[in-house]
Amino acid sequence: MNSRFTSEIYSDWMRSTQEKKYKEIFLDFILTLKGKVDLEKDRILDIGVGKGWFEKKLHERGIDAEVVGLDVERTDMATEGVKFIVGDGDYMPFKSSSFDMVISFDTIHLLKNPGEIERVIKDGGFALISTHCNERNFKERAQRVKSLFDLKELKEGLVGDPNDEMSYVVLFKKGP
Ligand SMILES: C[S@@+](CC[C@H](N)C(=O)[O-])C[C@H]1O[C@@H](n2cnc3c(N)ncnc32)[C@H](O)[C@@H]1O
Repeated sequence: MNSRFTSEIYSDWMRSTQEKKYKEIFLDFILTLKGKVDLEKDRILDIGVGKGWFEKKLHERGIDAEVVGLDVERTDMATEGVKFIVGDGDYMPFKSSSFDMVISFDTIHLLKNPGEIERVIKDGGFALISTHCNERNFKERAQRVKSLFDLKELKEGLVGDPNDEMSYVVLFKKGP
């Protein structure tokens, strides 16, 4: 089997695993931002965008968002509405305070300089961050993620299935 074929199978598996794990993300987190973030007009950045399962879900829901997707590896991005940029989340090629919302799913453990996330969010903007966990370690993972930021925590929770894949998710706001 050639490596491109193997990596395509892995990417497809990864995307469907993520879609299944995060199926409650809209109800539990995104809809709580109604009236605060306009997904169709505001500037949104997805750090470690991978194959863009989240953006695909936005489009399936008829949300015409234009998301900037940053990743160190170029992926074969099949999702409409993603402006894909190859770059490092630790040193981002964006001006300070240039995004209304930053999202980053299951990537924060790979970043060494999470202060970059705070830098690029506008005052009054939001960050939606998640990290892999399980039933035993979720409290420790939650503490670790929260300790990385000087942002106001609005909401936290777990997504996924304890017998399968799980992630801890936290929504922050920058500023009062
Ligand atoms: C576990 S995957 C998650 C992908 C996607 N967010 C998802 O939910 O399917 C982690 C992603 O982070 C990317 N990544 C790793 N280090 C990075 C860095 N320093 N800056 C930006 N992206 C990074 C990887 O290439 C990979 O696409």
